[in-house]
Amino acid sequence: MTARERYGESVLSPDWHGERERLVAMAEVADGTTRRVLQDLGLRPHWDCLEVGAGAGTVAAWLAGQVPDGSVLATDVDTRWLRAIDAPTLRVAEHDIVLDPLPESAFHLVHARFVLEHLPERDAVLAKLCRSLRPGGLLMIESIASFPIASGGTPAFRDAMHAVESTLAATIGTDAGWPRTFPSPLLAHGLTEVSASVHVPATGGRNASARCWSHTLTQLRPRMLELTPEVLPAVDEALRLLDRQEFFELAFATAVCWGRRPAHPG
Ligand SMILES: C[S@@+](CC[C@H](N)C(=O)[O-])C[C@H]1O[C@@H](n2cnc3c(N)ncnc32)[C@H](O)[C@@H]1O
Repeated sequence: MTARERYGESVLSPDWHGERERLVAMAEVADGTTRRVLQDLGLRPHWDCLEVGAGAGTVAAWLAGQVPDGSVLATDVDTRWLRAIDAPTLRVAEHDIVLDPLPESAFHLVHARFVLEHLPERDAVLAKLCRSLRPGGLLMIESIASFPIASGGTPAFRDAMHAVESTLAATIGTDAGWPRTFPSPLLAHGLTEVSASVHVPATGGRNASARCWSHTLTQLRPRMLELTPEVLPAVDEALRLLDRQEFFELAFATAVCWGRRPAHPG
């Protein structure tokens, strides 16, 4: 096993030529669920919102349009794609959610999608995010969850997705099992009105999910070659399957959880 590195240093680096396309495909898969859950939870036009690890910025841009009387602070360790978004209520900041401080009791909504599962410090980050909520404020976390993969009926695809999970765990410390515990981590941090749901989109027919996993396998392939070369036949077969119109499977789920900071402590 190689030494632990941080997200984006090498694995999932924004400098990789296909990374923006990968994030845009990911957003195409996930944005519908994100918007629906936020609207069901009562998103209001005056809310001050924090979007953590905003990536290509599709959620930040949409949120900015939903809060004409509020604000959105979109943060990421790398803001190259966020700076191009032009919205009057949106502010972009380069910020490391592990290392940098956050204002306390500041936000009506804090949202992070596909970020905390990749951070070994996720529990301390969760505590920080909870403190940044105003009393009564809403926290929503979305993460990739690996539990559907084991039931897959296509051995090469199943093995390739397991290889994604183990490569991310060995390199940057991703835990794709953690989201299976939702919403317990929010309860442990004192949030109330907690709950969770899971979205498992079909991956196939060259849809956005198929494109996203194809990019992810291509990105990770050199590290798999280094760490677990025995998985490469399955990875290459999965890449061929993902390019076929008639192929469909289930990959990772998106697990979503939410909760509120108590309005009156104690
Ligand atoms: C898988 S992408 C998800 C992007 C976006 N949230 C979405 O769902 O479309 C993860 C994002 O988290 C960012 N990220 C990783 N580590 C971070 C950290 N320590 N602090 C802030 N952002 C981080 C990455 O740069 C990347 O943009």
